[in-house]
Amino acid sequence: MPSTLTIRRPDDWHVHLRDGPMLAACAVHTARQFARAIIMPNLVPPVTKVAEAVAYRDRIRAAVPADLKFEPLMTCYLTDGADPAELTRGKEEGVWVAAKLYPAHATTNSAHGVTSMDRVAKGLEAMEKAGMPLLVHGEVTDPDVDLFDREAVFLDKVLFPLLKRHPGLKIVLEHITTREGVAFVEAHPDRMGGTITPHHLSYNRNAIFKGGIRPHFYCLPIAKREEHRLALRRAATSGNPAFFLGTDTAPHSTDTKECACGCAGIFNAPVAMQVYAQVFAEEGKLDNLEAFASLNGPRFYGLPANEERITLRAATLEAPETVEVPGLSKTITVFRPDTPVDWSF
Ligand code: NCD
Ligand code: ZN
Repeated sequence: MPSTLTIRRPDDWHVHLRDGPMLAACAVHTARQFARAIIMPNLVPPVTKVAEAVAYRDRIRAAVPADLKFEPLMTCYLTDGADPAELTRGKEEGVWVAAKLYPAHATTNSAHGVTSMDRVAKGLEAMEKAGMPLLVHGEVTDPDVDLFDREAVFLDKVLFPLLKRHPGLKIVLEHITTREGVAFVEAHPDRMGGTITPHHLSYNRNAIFKGGIRPHFYCLPIAKREEHRLALRRAATSGNPAFFLGTDTAPHSTDTKECACGCAGIFNAPVAMQVYAQVFAEEGKLDNLEAFASLNGPRFYGLPANEERITLRAATLEAPETVEVPGLSKTITVFRPDTPVDWSF
């Protein structure tokens, strides 16, 4: 096992940075590790207009310390009746990099999400023409479908028809949690990508209930059985260019997770590359970490890979248990797997 690993500086293709005091507390942690990040638009209210995205991008840049080089890549939150002209214009002006599909009520801040694919068809046609990828939260919201089946059902019921209806659309299945999700991306290599989080690679659904209910292991899509985690580990470490890094770091203050109806979302930004390196080392695939973290994403999005390099060290992870949110007098709990992490950044 090497004692250091130097790779091109990675990018994070799925990040929640929030706004206001939370943004001020969190941005530095993503910018320390990653050169660029796809910024999720699920603010309250959501980012649906080009001008809102430009203003949010400015707030993100202002929240990143001046000595860190970091580029926020903005996304449009699709709502019913999404305006094709706004999508096209934002792409032409270099603001939108992609648009995000949240099925209405699927996850945190998705109340304004899409209720039926018919209602975004015109927007998706515009994106097809503009070469703008669609990023998908792949879960159905039907309460009759078991929580643990919602991703697999989404693939059959929603995503497969969507691919047929919009043959030119490039799609990323975000934060894949199932072997069905892996197989679906593998079956459409010419037009699909899939992001995989560090936490879904580290634990299965048992961890959420080990010794009691553990809110800091709760996110959506929820972690599944061990067989699914193993499929994700195989996909991420395989070198297949369709799979790339997306942490889904999703900060909520500790008090809003440790309560009777705790929020979904895991804050992993301070430990992301360390946990990914641990997984690749355990799989004997450290040679493929650079492809997953630094090459496959830019290739999918048609962007150059970063020229800078980072070095990871084989040393026990050092990370704070919590991050302070000045201005809110709150903390955010940092993700830490139950298993050892022997990589440092
Ligand atoms: C995300 C959030 O908190 O914004 N939560 C989560 O559990 N992943 C939303 C999302 O990506 O689903
Ligand atoms: Zn997310």
